Amino acid sequence: MGFAELWDSLLPLGRDPRTGGYRRQAFTPADLACRRWFLKTAAERSLRGHCDRNGNLWAWWDVPGVTRTSVVTGSHLDSVPDGGAYDGPLGVVCGFAAIDLLRARRFRPACPVAVAAFCEEEGGRFGMACLGSRLLAGAAQPGAAAQLRDADGVTLAEAMTAAGLDPARLGSDTELLARLGAFVELHIEQGSALDGLGAAVGIATRIWPHGRWRLDFAGRADHAGTTRLADRRDPMLPYAATVLAAREAAAGHAALATFGKVTAEPGGTNAISSAVRAWLDARAPDEAVLYRMVGQIEAAARRAAAGHGVELGMRLESFTPPVEFDPGLRARLAGALAGRGITAPELATGAGHDAGVLAARLPAAMLFVRNPAGVSHAPAEHADQADCEAGVVALAAVIEELASR
Ligand code: GLV
Ligand code: MN
Ligand code: MN
Repeated sequence: MGFAELWDSLLPLGRDPRTGGYRRQAFTPADLACRRWFLKTAAERSLRGHCDRNGNLWAWWDVPGVTRTSVVTGSHLDSVPDGGAYDGPLGVVCGFAAIDLLRARRFRPACPVAVAAFCEEEGGRFGMACLGSRLLAGAAQPGAAAQLRDADGVTLAEAMTAAGLDPARLGSDTELLARLGAFVELHIEQGSALDGLGAAVGIATRIWPHGRWRLDFAGRADHAGTTRLADRRDPMLPYAATVLAAREAAAGHAALATFGKVTAEPGGTNAISSAVRAWLDARAPDEAVLYRMVGQIEAAARRAAAGHGVELGMRLESFTPPVEFDPGLRARLAGALAGRGITAPELATGAGHDAGVLAARLPAAMLFVRNPAGVSHAPAEHADQADCEAGVVALAAVIEELASR
Protein backbone atom coordinates (compact mmCIF):
# COMPACT_ATOMS: atom_id res chain seq x y z
CA MET A 1 0.00 0.00 0.00
CA GLY A 2 1.29 3.46 -0.83
CA PHE A 3 1.96 6.18 1.71
CA ALA A 4 -1.16 8.23 0.89
CA GLU A 5 -3.69 5.46 1.45
CA LEU A 6 -2.09 4.42 4.72
CA TRP A 7 -1.84 8.05 5.88
CA ASP A 8 -5.50 8.67 5.07
CA SER A 9 -6.55 5.64 7.11
CA LEU A 10 -5.06 7.19 10.28
CA LEU A 11 -5.84 10.86 9.59
CA PRO A 12 -9.43 11.10 10.96
CA LEU A 13 -8.63 9.50 14.32
CA GLY A 14 -8.63 12.00 17.17
CA ARG A 15 -8.94 15.12 14.99
CA ASP A 16 -10.77 18.01 16.62
CA PRO A 17 -13.26 19.26 14.02
CA ARG A 18 -13.16 22.81 15.45
CA THR A 19 -9.41 23.33 15.05
CA GLY A 20 -8.20 20.55 12.77
CA GLY A 21 -5.67 19.67 15.49
CA TYR A 22 -5.22 16.30 17.19
CA ARG A 23 -6.02 15.26 20.74
CA ARG A 24 -4.47 11.84 20.98
CA GLN A 25 -3.13 11.91 24.53
CA ALA A 26 -2.08 8.51 25.84
CA PHE A 27 -4.84 6.01 26.59
CA THR A 28 -7.65 8.44 25.75
CA PRO A 29 -10.32 7.06 23.36
CA ALA A 30 -8.51 8.76 20.42
CA ASP A 31 -5.19 7.17 21.35
CA LEU A 32 -6.85 3.78 21.84
CA ALA A 33 -8.31 4.11 18.32
CA CYS A 34 -4.78 4.84 17.01
CA ARG A 35 -3.45 1.81 18.87
CA ARG A 36 -6.13 -0.39 17.27
CA TRP A 37 -5.21 1.12 13.90
CA PHE A 38 -1.57 0.13 14.49
CA LEU A 39 -2.38 -3.48 15.34
CA LYS A 40 -4.81 -3.79 12.39
CA THR A 41 -2.23 -2.28 10.02
CA ALA A 42 0.32 -4.80 11.29
CA ALA A 43 -2.11 -7.72 10.95
CA GLU A 44 -3.01 -6.72 7.38
CA ARG A 45 0.70 -7.10 6.55
CA SER A 46 1.17 -10.34 8.49
CA LEU A 47 3.49 -8.45 10.83
CA ARG A 48 3.35 -9.82 14.38
CA GLY A 49 1.63 -7.21 16.53
CA HIS A 50 2.76 -6.97 20.13
CA CYS A 51 2.21 -4.59 23.05
CA ASP A 52 5.17 -4.61 25.44
CA ARG A 53 4.95 -4.26 29.22
CA ASN A 54 5.21 -0.44 29.00
CA GLY A 55 2.40 0.03 26.50
CA ASN A 56 4.69 0.43 23.47
CA LEU A 57 3.41 -1.24 20.29
CA TRP A 58 5.50 -3.35 17.94
CA ALA A 59 4.88 -4.83 14.49
CA TRP A 60 7.46 -7.51 13.78
CA TRP A 61 8.62 -8.71 10.39
CA ASP A 62 10.13 -11.90 11.80
CA VAL A 63 12.83 -13.89 10.10
CA PRO A 64 12.45 -17.50 11.28
CA GLY A 65 15.56 -19.01 12.79
CA VAL A 66 17.53 -15.75 12.78
CA THR A 67 18.92 -14.61 16.10
CA ARG A 68 20.67 -11.44 14.85
CA THR A 69 19.41 -8.30 16.54
CA SER A 70 16.65 -6.45 14.77
CA VAL A 71 16.40 -3.17 12.90
CA VAL A 72 13.60 -1.04 14.32
CA THR A 73 11.93 2.04 12.96
CA GLY A 74 8.82 3.92 14.12
CA SER A 75 7.92 6.85 16.34
CA HIS A 76 4.76 7.60 18.35
CA LEU A 77 1.01 8.06 17.80
CA ASP A 78 0.10 10.25 20.79
CA SER A 79 -0.07 14.02 20.36
CA VAL A 80 0.20 17.23 22.34
CA PRO A 81 -3.18 18.91 22.97
CA ASP A 82 -4.31 20.19 19.57
CA GLY A 83 -1.14 18.95 17.89
CA GLY A 84 -0.36 18.48 14.24
CA ALA A 85 -0.97 15.34 12.22
CA TYR A 86 2.68 14.55 11.50
CA ASP A 87 4.63 14.71 14.77
CA GLY A 88 4.92 11.00 15.54
CA PRO A 89 2.46 9.40 13.13
CA LEU A 90 4.62 10.27 10.11
CA GLY A 91 7.37 7.96 11.40
CA VAL A 92 4.94 5.12 12.08
CA VAL A 93 3.15 5.36 8.72
CA CYS A 94 6.46 5.70 6.83
CA GLY A 95 7.71 2.62 8.69
CA PHE A 96 4.82 0.49 7.45
CA ALA A 97 5.02 2.03 3.96
CA ALA A 98 8.78 1.34 3.81
CA ILE A 99 8.15 -2.32 4.64
CA ASP A 100 5.50 -2.44 1.89
CA LEU A 101 8.03 -0.96 -0.55
CA LEU A 102 10.77 -3.39 0.45
CA ARG A 103 8.44 -6.33 0.09
CA ALA A 104 7.25 -5.10 -3.31
CA ARG A 105 10.92 -5.13 -4.30
CA ARG A 106 11.20 -8.69 -2.92
CA PHE A 107 13.76 -7.61 -0.34
CA ARG A 108 14.44 -10.37 2.19
CA PRO A 109 15.85 -9.04 5.48
CA ALA A 110 18.70 -10.91 7.12
CA CYS A 111 17.38 -9.97 10.56
CA PRO A 112 13.99 -9.12 12.05
CA VAL A 113 12.63 -5.68 11.19
CA ALA A 114 10.04 -3.92 13.32
CA VAL A 115 7.88 -0.81 13.38
CA ALA A 116 7.31 0.58 16.88
CA ALA A 117 4.89 3.16 18.30
CA PHE A 118 6.09 4.40 21.68
CA CYS A 119 3.61 5.28 24.40
CA GLU A 120 3.05 8.83 25.79
CA GLU A 121 6.01 10.33 23.89
CA GLU A 122 4.70 13.86 24.34
CA GLY A 123 4.01 13.47 28.04
CA GLY A 124 0.80 15.28 27.08
CA ARG A 125 -1.30 13.43 29.63
CA PHE A 126 0.97 12.24 32.46
CA GLY A 127 3.67 14.92 32.20
CA MET A 128 6.79 12.85 31.52
CA ALA A 129 8.09 13.11 27.95
CA CYS A 130 9.03 9.84 26.21
CA LEU A 131 7.50 7.82 29.03
CA GLY A 132 7.22 4.52 27.11
CA SER A 133 10.76 4.54 25.75
CA ARG A 134 12.16 5.73 29.11
CA LEU A 135 10.49 2.83 30.90
CA LEU A 136 11.69 0.35 28.28
CA ALA A 137 15.25 1.67 28.56
CA GLY A 138 15.23 1.74 32.36
CA ALA A 139 15.44 5.54 32.39
CA ALA A 140 12.24 6.02 34.44
CA GLN A 141 11.22 4.45 37.73
CA PRO A 142 8.21 2.15 37.15
CA GLY A 143 6.72 2.73 40.61
CA ALA A 144 6.81 6.51 40.26
CA ALA A 145 5.58 6.32 36.66
CA ALA A 146 2.55 4.22 37.64
CA GLN A 147 1.53 6.98 40.07
CA LEU A 148 1.83 9.89 37.61
CA ARG A 149 -1.51 11.67 37.39
CA ASP A 150 -3.30 13.43 34.56
CA ALA A 151 -5.17 16.73 34.98
CA ASP A 152 -8.24 14.86 36.30
CA GLY A 153 -6.23 12.93 38.89
CA VAL A 154 -6.29 9.64 36.97
CA THR A 155 -3.04 7.71 37.45
CA LEU A 156 -1.10 6.04 34.65
CA ALA A 157 -1.77 2.74 36.44
CA GLU A 158 -5.51 3.36 36.31
CA ALA A 159 -5.43 4.43 32.66
CA MET A 160 -3.39 1.36 31.70
CA THR A 161 -5.68 -0.96 33.63
CA ALA A 162 -8.72 0.55 31.91
CA ALA A 163 -6.97 -0.12 28.58
CA GLY A 164 -6.47 -3.79 29.53
CA LEU A 165 -2.76 -3.50 30.41
CA ASP A 166 -1.12 -4.55 33.67
CA PRO A 167 0.74 -1.65 35.36
CA ALA A 168 2.50 -4.11 37.67
CA ARG A 169 4.58 -5.14 34.63
CA LEU A 170 5.89 -1.60 33.95
CA GLY A 171 9.68 -1.32 33.87
CA SER A 172 12.91 -1.91 32.05
CA ASP A 173 12.56 -4.66 29.46
CA THR A 174 16.05 -6.07 29.13
CA GLU A 175 14.92 -9.06 27.09
CA LEU A 176 13.30 -6.85 24.46
CA LEU A 177 16.17 -4.35 24.53
CA ALA A 178 18.68 -7.13 23.89
CA ARG A 179 16.86 -7.92 20.65
CA LEU A 180 17.15 -4.37 19.30
CA GLY A 181 20.18 -3.80 17.09
CA ALA A 182 19.46 -0.29 15.85
CA PHE A 183 16.62 2.22 15.96
CA VAL A 184 16.00 4.74 13.20
CA GLU A 185 13.14 7.17 13.80
CA LEU A 186 11.75 9.15 10.90
CA HIS A 187 10.12 12.42 12.03
CA ILE A 188 8.77 15.61 10.54
CA GLU A 189 11.31 18.37 10.99
CA GLN A 190 10.06 20.80 13.63
CA GLY A 191 11.67 23.82 12.06
CA SER A 192 12.25 24.90 8.47
CA ALA A 193 15.99 24.26 8.02
CA LEU A 194 15.50 21.59 5.35
CA ASP A 195 13.25 23.93 3.41
CA GLY A 196 15.98 26.54 3.44
CA LEU A 197 18.46 23.95 2.20
CA GLY A 198 16.11 22.69 -0.53
CA ALA A 199 16.20 19.11 0.78
CA ALA A 200 13.28 16.71 1.32
CA VAL A 201 15.05 14.67 3.99
CA GLY A 202 17.81 15.22 6.54
CA ILE A 203 19.77 13.31 9.17
CA ALA A 204 19.79 14.34 12.84
CA THR A 205 23.11 14.95 14.52
CA ARG A 206 22.13 15.77 18.10
CA ILE A 207 19.33 16.80 20.45
CA TRP A 208 19.65 19.73 22.81
CA PRO A 209 19.36 18.92 26.53
CA HIS A 210 15.92 19.86 27.77
CA GLY A 211 13.59 19.49 30.71
CA ARG A 212 10.26 20.34 32.29
CA TRP A 213 9.85 22.02 35.66
CA ARG A 214 6.62 22.47 37.59
CA LEU A 215 6.16 25.70 39.56
CA ASP A 216 3.51 25.98 42.26
CA PHE A 217 2.73 29.53 43.39
CA ALA A 218 0.53 29.46 46.51
CA GLY A 219 -1.16 32.74 47.51
CA ARG A 220 -4.42 33.67 49.23
CA ALA A 221 -7.86 33.70 47.62
CA ASP A 222 -9.89 36.83 48.12
CA HIS A 223 -12.46 39.18 46.55
CA ALA A 224 -11.39 40.97 43.34
CA GLY A 225 -13.66 43.93 44.07
CA THR A 226 -12.89 44.61 47.72
CA THR A 227 -9.33 43.53 48.53
CA ARG A 228 -6.93 46.47 48.54
CA LEU A 229 -3.91 45.96 46.27
CA ALA A 230 -1.59 46.33 49.26
CA ASP A 231 -3.38 43.50 51.10
CA ARG A 232 -3.21 40.93 48.33
CA ARG A 233 -1.12 37.76 48.10
CA ASP A 234 -1.87 37.15 44.45
CA PRO A 235 0.07 34.20 42.94
CA MET A 236 -0.66 35.44 39.43
CA LEU A 237 1.78 38.33 39.87
CA PRO A 238 4.99 36.35 40.56
CA TYR A 239 3.90 33.91 37.88
CA ALA A 240 3.64 36.76 35.35
CA ALA A 241 7.04 38.11 36.44
CA THR A 242 8.51 34.63 35.99
CA VAL A 243 7.20 34.34 32.42
CA LEU A 244 8.93 37.61 31.54
CA ALA A 245 12.11 36.58 33.35
CA ALA A 246 12.16 33.30 31.43
CA ARG A 247 11.94 35.12 28.14
CA GLU A 248 14.78 37.43 29.11
CA ALA A 249 16.95 34.59 30.40
CA ALA A 250 16.39 32.55 27.24
CA ALA A 251 17.32 35.50 25.03
CA GLY A 252 20.44 36.11 27.13
CA HIS A 253 21.61 32.50 26.82
CA ALA A 254 20.67 31.91 23.15
CA ALA A 255 18.40 29.20 24.52
CA LEU A 256 14.65 28.54 24.79
CA ALA A 257 12.23 28.82 27.71
CA THR A 258 8.47 28.47 27.44
CA PHE A 259 5.45 28.51 29.71
CA GLY A 260 2.82 26.72 27.60
CA LYS A 261 0.64 25.36 30.36
CA VAL A 262 -0.78 27.15 33.38
CA THR A 263 -3.72 26.62 35.68
CA ALA A 264 -5.23 29.04 38.20
CA GLU A 265 -7.21 27.87 41.24
CA PRO A 266 -10.10 28.16 41.76
CA GLY A 267 -10.45 30.02 38.46
CA GLY A 268 -13.03 32.71 39.20
CA THR A 269 -13.01 35.93 37.14
CA ASN A 270 -13.92 37.99 40.20
CA ALA A 271 -11.56 36.33 42.67
CA ILE A 272 -7.85 36.50 43.39
CA SER A 273 -6.41 33.03 42.76
CA SER A 274 -5.39 30.85 45.67
CA ALA A 275 -2.77 29.10 43.56
CA VAL A 276 -1.17 29.17 40.14
CA ARG A 277 0.52 26.09 38.76
CA ALA A 278 2.71 26.49 35.68
CA TRP A 279 5.12 24.37 33.70
CA LEU A 280 8.46 25.63 32.38
CA ASP A 281 9.88 23.91 29.29
CA ALA A 282 13.57 24.85 28.95
CA ARG A 283 16.12 23.84 26.32
CA ALA A 284 19.66 24.93 25.51
CA PRO A 285 22.55 23.88 23.29
CA ASP A 286 24.46 22.50 26.27
CA GLU A 287 23.66 21.35 29.77
CA ALA A 288 25.68 23.96 31.66
CA VAL A 289 23.85 26.76 29.83
CA LEU A 290 20.53 25.07 30.46
CA TYR A 291 21.14 24.84 34.21
CA ARG A 292 22.40 28.43 34.36
CA MET A 293 19.29 29.66 32.57
CA VAL A 294 16.88 27.65 34.73
CA GLY A 295 18.73 28.83 37.85
CA GLN A 296 18.27 32.42 36.73
CA ILE A 297 14.55 31.85 36.10
CA GLU A 298 14.13 30.17 39.49
CA ALA A 299 15.89 33.05 41.27
CA ALA A 300 13.60 35.55 39.55
CA ALA A 301 10.54 33.47 40.46
CA ARG A 302 11.61 33.25 44.13
CA ARG A 303 12.28 36.99 44.31
CA ALA A 304 8.90 37.81 42.80
CA ALA A 305 7.09 35.30 45.01
CA ALA A 306 8.70 36.72 48.16
CA GLY A 307 7.81 40.24 47.04
CA HIS A 308 4.13 39.29 46.87
CA GLY A 309 3.92 37.11 50.00
CA VAL A 310 3.48 34.01 47.86
CA GLU A 311 4.97 30.54 48.52
CA LEU A 312 6.83 28.91 45.63
CA GLY A 313 7.52 25.20 45.08
CA MET A 314 9.56 24.19 42.03
CA ARG A 315 10.46 20.67 40.93
CA LEU A 316 11.84 18.88 37.91
CA GLU A 317 9.32 16.62 36.15
CA SER A 318 11.46 15.22 33.37
CA PHE A 319 14.91 15.76 31.95
CA THR A 320 16.74 14.63 28.83
CA PRO A 321 20.51 15.10 28.69
CA PRO A 322 22.13 16.04 25.38
CA VAL A 323 22.08 13.30 22.78
CA GLU A 324 24.72 12.72 20.09
CA PHE A 325 23.37 10.24 17.60
CA ASP A 326 25.69 7.30 16.85
CA PRO A 327 28.27 8.57 14.31
CA GLY A 328 28.75 5.12 12.76
CA LEU A 329 25.04 4.64 12.23
CA ARG A 330 24.68 8.17 10.87
CA ALA A 331 27.43 7.47 8.37
CA ARG A 332 25.64 4.31 7.25
CA LEU A 333 22.42 6.28 6.79
CA ALA A 334 24.23 8.95 4.78
CA GLY A 335 25.91 6.29 2.64
CA ALA A 336 22.66 4.41 1.98
CA LEU A 337 20.93 7.65 0.96
CA ALA A 338 23.83 8.86 -1.17
CA GLY A 339 23.75 5.46 -2.92
CA ARG A 340 20.19 6.28 -4.00
CA GLY A 341 21.09 9.78 -5.09
CA ILE A 342 19.43 11.35 -2.01
CA THR A 343 21.14 14.40 -0.53
CA ALA A 344 20.39 14.56 3.19
CA PRO A 345 21.85 17.50 5.13
CA GLU A 346 22.69 17.01 8.79
CA LEU A 347 20.93 19.05 11.45
CA ALA A 348 20.61 19.32 15.22
CA THR A 349 17.27 19.78 16.95
CA GLY A 350 15.85 21.19 20.16
CA ALA A 351 12.96 18.70 20.12
CA GLY A 352 12.95 15.52 22.18
CA HIS A 353 12.38 12.08 20.67
CA ASP A 354 12.20 8.41 21.66
CA ALA A 355 15.30 7.90 19.50
CA GLY A 356 17.12 10.24 21.90
CA VAL A 357 16.13 8.13 24.89
CA LEU A 358 16.97 4.84 23.19
CA ALA A 359 20.34 6.24 22.05
CA ALA A 360 21.61 5.61 25.59
CA ARG A 361 21.02 1.87 25.12
CA LEU A 362 21.56 1.09 21.42
CA PRO A 363 22.74 2.75 18.21
CA ALA A 364 20.01 5.19 17.21
CA ALA A 365 19.56 7.73 14.45
CA MET A 366 16.89 9.95 12.95
CA LEU A 367 15.68 11.03 9.55
CA PHE A 368 13.81 14.32 9.22
CA VAL A 369 11.25 15.17 6.54
CA ARG A 370 10.92 18.77 5.31
CA ASN A 371 8.30 20.97 6.98
CA PRO A 372 7.93 24.02 4.70
CA ALA A 373 6.45 26.38 7.29
CA GLY A 374 8.45 24.92 10.17
CA VAL A 375 5.35 24.86 12.41
CA SER A 376 4.92 21.95 14.82
CA HIS A 377 2.88 21.09 17.95
CA ALA A 378 0.06 23.00 16.25
CA PRO A 379 -2.65 22.19 13.69
CA ALA A 380 -0.74 24.02 10.92
CA GLU A 381 2.09 21.45 11.01
CA HIS A 382 2.53 20.16 7.46
CA ALA A 383 4.69 18.12 5.11
CA ASP A 384 4.00 17.77 1.39
CA GLN A 385 2.96 14.34 0.23
CA ALA A 386 5.89 14.15 -2.20
CA ASP A 387 8.29 14.74 0.71
CA CYS A 388 6.57 12.10 2.84
CA GLU A 389 6.98 9.69 -0.06
CA ALA A 390 10.65 10.70 -0.32
CA GLY A 391 10.84 9.88 3.39
CA VAL A 392 9.47 6.39 2.72
CA VAL A 393 12.07 5.83 -0.03
CA ALA A 394 14.85 7.08 2.26
CA LEU A 395 13.70 4.94 5.17
CA ALA A 396 13.42 1.86 2.94
CA ALA A 397 16.99 2.46 1.73
CA VAL A 398 18.18 2.70 5.34
CA ILE A 399 16.35 -0.46 6.44
CA GLU A 400 17.73 -2.28 3.42
CA GLU A 401 21.25 -1.17 4.32
CA LEU A 402 20.93 -2.17 7.99
CA ALA A 403 18.99 -5.41 7.52
CA SER A 404 21.10 -6.87 4.72
CA ARG A 405 23.52 -9.71 5.19
C1 GLV B 1 8.67 16.62 21.85
O1 GLV B 1 7.94 16.82 20.92
C2 GLV B 1 9.26 17.69 22.57
O2 GLV B 1 8.55 18.32 23.35
O3 GLV B 1 10.43 17.99 22.33
MN1 MN C 1 6.19 16.45 19.70
MN1 MN D 1 7.47 13.52 18.02
